[in-house]
Amino acid sequence: MTSDPLLQPFRLKHLTLKNRVMSSSHEPAYSEDGMPKERYRLYHAEKAKGGMALTMTAGSAIVSRDSPAAFGNLQAYRDEIVPWMRALAASCHEHDCKVMIQLTHLGRRTGWNKADWLPVLSASPVREPAHRSFPKIAEDWDIERIVADYASAAQRMQEAGLDGIEFEAYGHLMDGFWSPATNHRDDDYGGSLDNRLRFTWQVIDAVRKAVGDDFIVGIRMVADEDFATGLSRDEGVEIARRLAGSGKFDFLNIIRGSIETDAALTKVIPIAGMRSAPHLDFAGEVKAATKFPVFHAARISDVATARHAIASGKLDMVGMTRAHIADPHIVRKVIEGREHQIRPCVGATYCLDRIYEGGEALCIHNAATGREATIPQSIERSSRPAKSVVVVGAGPGGLEAARVAAERGHAVTVLEASGQAGGQVRLAAQNQRRRELIGIVDWRLAELERLGVEIRFDTWAEKDDVLALSPDVVVVATGGLPQNPPLEAGGDLVTSSWDIIAGAVKPAENVLLYDDNGGHQGMTAAELAAEAGSKLELLSPERFFAPEMGGMNHAPYMRAFHEKGVAITINTRLRAVRREGNQLVATLSSDFAQGWQGERRVDQVVVEHGTLPLDDLYLALKPLSINGGAVDYERLVEGGDIFPETNSDGGFVLYRIGDAVAARNIHAAIYDAVRFGIRY
Ligand SMILES: Cc1cc2nc3c(=O)[nH]c(=O)nc-3n(C[C@H](O)[C@H](O)[C@H](O)COP(=O)(O)O)c2cc1C
Ligand code: SF4
Repeated sequence: MTSDPLLQPFRLKHLTLKNRVMSSSHEPAYSEDGMPKERYRLYHAEKAKGGMALTMTAGSAIVSRDSPAAFGNLQAYRDEIVPWMRALAASCHEHDCKVMIQLTHLGRRTGWNKADWLPVLSASPVREPAHRSFPKIAEDWDIERIVADYASAAQRMQEAGLDGIEFEAYGHLMDGFWSPATNHRDDDYGGSLDNRLRFTWQVIDAVRKAVGDDFIVGIRMVADEDFATGLSRDEGVEIARRLAGSGKFDFLNIIRGSIETDAALTKVIPIAGMRSAPHLDFAGEVKAATKFPVFHAARISDVATARHAIASGKLDMVGMTRAHIADPHIVRKVIEGREHQIRPCVGATYCLDRIYEGGEALCIHNAATGREATIPQSIERSSRPAKSVVVVGAGPGGLEAARVAAERGHAVTVLEASGQAGGQVRLAAQNQRRRELIGIVDWRLAELERLGVEIRFDTWAEKDDVLALSPDVVVVATGGLPQNPPLEAGGDLVTSSWDIIAGAVKPAENVLLYDDNGGHQGMTAAELAAEAGSKLELLSPERFFAPEMGGMNHAPYMRAFHEKGVAITINTRLRAVRREGNQLVATLSSDFAQGWQGERRVDQVVVEHGTLPLDDLYLALKPLSINGGAVDYERLVEGGDIFPETNSDGGFVLYRIGDAVAARNIHAAIYDAVRFGIRY
């Protein structure tokens, strides 16, 4: 019997949770037609296989039609969901992982111009900034039907064989009644705390009537909105006390903060560069005040912190949600003494930013998550004969290609031109706020060491160097070099954002930074220049700046820009740069007004326009390869051999990945590496 606090069982009513690790509710936007189909099932089953005790499925599964999906939410108001949830639960139960679901009415946290075009509602008509909705006031007949909707949704989940449910009560309809910021009513639902809790009691009573006393029902609730006009800590803790003392709930899942703006949301779900476990003590205080089972998740991403959360008695169940998106096998690795092999969550929050931009949750450096049907989380040995694989480039894509090939049982050599691994990730981690990104590199280096892969640093690989290794497979992962945006003149006068980030060029006193890429690179250079004291203007041709970055990652950049007085100009292109005396004059143009021209006089013009592939080696090897560098995309997606034999005299299979193909991002490089690598 282990003494690890994380691995101790927890008894919740009649249910035994086999350890203390859970994934809190999150909508990965893997739903299809609002249903949790195969992709959804496999995603949760993988975590179950990985050893976690409880997976809280869905994120904000919606109980009513007038709560349309904001980010792929499951539709708990439809009977069709029952067989899908039943299949999902059965797959998790096979591994003794308990399954619950979060139910909600999104209230004002969605849009009226979606699904059935029904008006959104809330306790009072207070606009929600993040979704730009102007809600109507919930009327008596609205309350009546929504209470009934909660009850029937709960019943569906019981019928599907789930182990329980939780209500969502932060930023949604239920807590919209609690908060003085969103409840201005003067009827039975407003004013006193008793009145503001009325809707919650109606819901829980109806749900209990529908599912009985034995079914587990909890609540994920805000116990302190942490802003001046919001729900105070005193009232929040009092609500927790009342709910816990009512005998109607089985657990509290504690939240601190508000989610009505991107900036506020990052405090509830902190991203890279923010404090670890910022609300753990608060959750512990609620536990002490209520003496009730308490769950909590907020950037408890490493096992040591999770262990502390349980050992110190602050929590009963610890949510490691993004940590499991990065590595669904955390608990198994702990049990097997392989804690050091856990792929770390680096806080990039690519996962969450994608769902708010209409995409599905993907981990920046685990391409298998959400793709369990086609990419295994644990790479298996190839059934084919072992090959000699040469990987050129030790950026994230090259390291991943090497890792996958080594796991497949091939003999791998990595050639890296510089003295260090990491490529653009190492550059991105120069931003102190995002230094955790280096975990993407360090984890792979540790895995390569374990797998016995040799990396030859300071080795600029030419064609003959590669051929000398007699490879069966060559993976070109040489990345790219920064390119200038198209300029009428003055390309030789501008500074690349890379040079600013790498510290090769110091930011000048007056800087114009033109970002025609839209991702982190330009923003990082801007943040570094502003921090260094430059008077900075950020220029973007887009309707809003950095459009490739989601709202959560936007927040800390914007904070720095406000604090440092960075000027931001959108809808404007950089056309040309010329020198005048010891200054540079930038000419600006507009896509919208043909004759318009602007001018800026500065000391330095910094540009960001992505990269051009470093493809000399690839082009030199191409004629010598079996497949001429070709990849059969149809087969890559549908199955079959992906490297066509176009040259019977060729000596090896050749392919390139990541930015060596075209400027993309870390996830794309890692996805390329793994999806090609598992095919031979
Ligand atoms: C992709 C994604 C979607 C999420 N959706 C929800 C949601 O619908 N409801 C909810 O209560 N929390 C949601 N969350 C928040 C998580 O439950 C959790 O509180 C948050 O990720 C912080 O925990 P962590 O640091 O362990 O990831 C979501 C998180 C992610 C990553
Ligand atoms: S994208 Fe970043 S925050 Fe999200 S799971 Fe992956 S490493 Fe963690």
